[in-house]
Amino acid sequence: MDNDFSNKNIVITGGASGIGRLMAKSLAAKGANLIILDINQANLDKVVGEIVDDGNNGHGYICDVGNFSEVEEVKKKISHEHGFVEVLINNAGVITGKYFLDLSPEEIEMTIRVNTLAGIWTTKVFLPEMIEKNRGHLVNIASAAGLVGVAKMSDYSASKFAHFGFDEAIRMELKQMKKNIHTTVITPYFINTGMFDGVKTRFSFLLPIMDEKKAAAKIVKAIEKKKERLMMPPMVYTLFPLRMLPVPIFDWVANFMGINDTMKNFVGRKGKQ
Ligand SMILES: NC(=O)c1ccc[n+]([C@@H]2O[C@H](COP(=O)([O-])OP(=O)(O)OC[C@H]3O[C@@H](n4cnc5c(N)ncnc54)[C@H](O)[C@@H]3O)[C@@H](O)[C@H]2O)c1
Repeated sequence: MDNDFSNKNIVITGGASGIGRLMAKSLAAKGANLIILDINQANLDKVVGEIVDDGNNGHGYICDVGNFSEVEEVKKKISHEHGFVEVLINNAGVITGKYFLDLSPEEIEMTIRVNTLAGIWTTKVFLPEMIEKNRGHLVNIASAAGLVGVAKMSDYSASKFAHFGFDEAIRMELKQMKKNIHTTVITPYFINTGMFDGVKTRFSFLLPIMDEKKAAAKIVKAIEKKKERLMMPPMVYTLFPLRMLPVPIFDWVANFMGINDTMKNFVGRKGKQ
């Protein structure tokens, strides 16, 4: 049976911008009570305002999801104010977009904290109640760069490979426990949210830069259908058979597809939100 979101509490991290904002609005329109965790107060207020103006239910909490004590604290508040959280969407993410040698230890640590540890911390605090009630859904927004290492994304690829691996290991544990708790992992290529402004794709008919509205709609549909994995665009699935090739051929194919040139003109948000 598909997920029915009506009157369910959904927590989404990084929901004040990009696909998180669009997913939050869409899920709220489907009847869910959206609880958005973010560090950007202005954007958080804006999206909550938009949800409420649409006649739906939305709430915002300032929380650095890379910080375990802040996550523990916000969980207590959410439990008190809203009750059981049925769906957790780990979506918050950051990108530095620099060559490894140019990255500072602080930048590397921030990427791992937000893209990897945050999803582990939120799962740590929200999963026990799902286990207790034997229902729930964990959603992890990883990346295609969590399936293939990409130049100028060493910290990001490392963080997203880890996020993908975490999702898989938790899925295995939940199946061993025979729990009625679903998991969904999403591995998108580029989406035009602004996070990756400046990136270029070589073969856009195979690897297009996705429109944020279409990407968010696909993710919401995957969550609704309780799909365990969504790779988009479909070309991303070819990474699995390609991995059977000898490494020099795999690397040649990645370079031919232009993967390692995508980030050459990366600008990102550079201060704008
Ligand atoms: N945009 C893409 O091309 C793309 C591709 C693949 C995967 N993704 C992943 O999708 C997710 C969303 O991407 P987006 O493009 O919508 O990004 P975005 O930059 O538009 O939004 C990210 C949000 O996360 C919030 N955030 C950052 N650090 C935080 C922290 N410590 N605690 C709480 N919130 C924090 C930001 O304030 C922002 O609102 C990310 O995990 C990203 O890695 C994006």
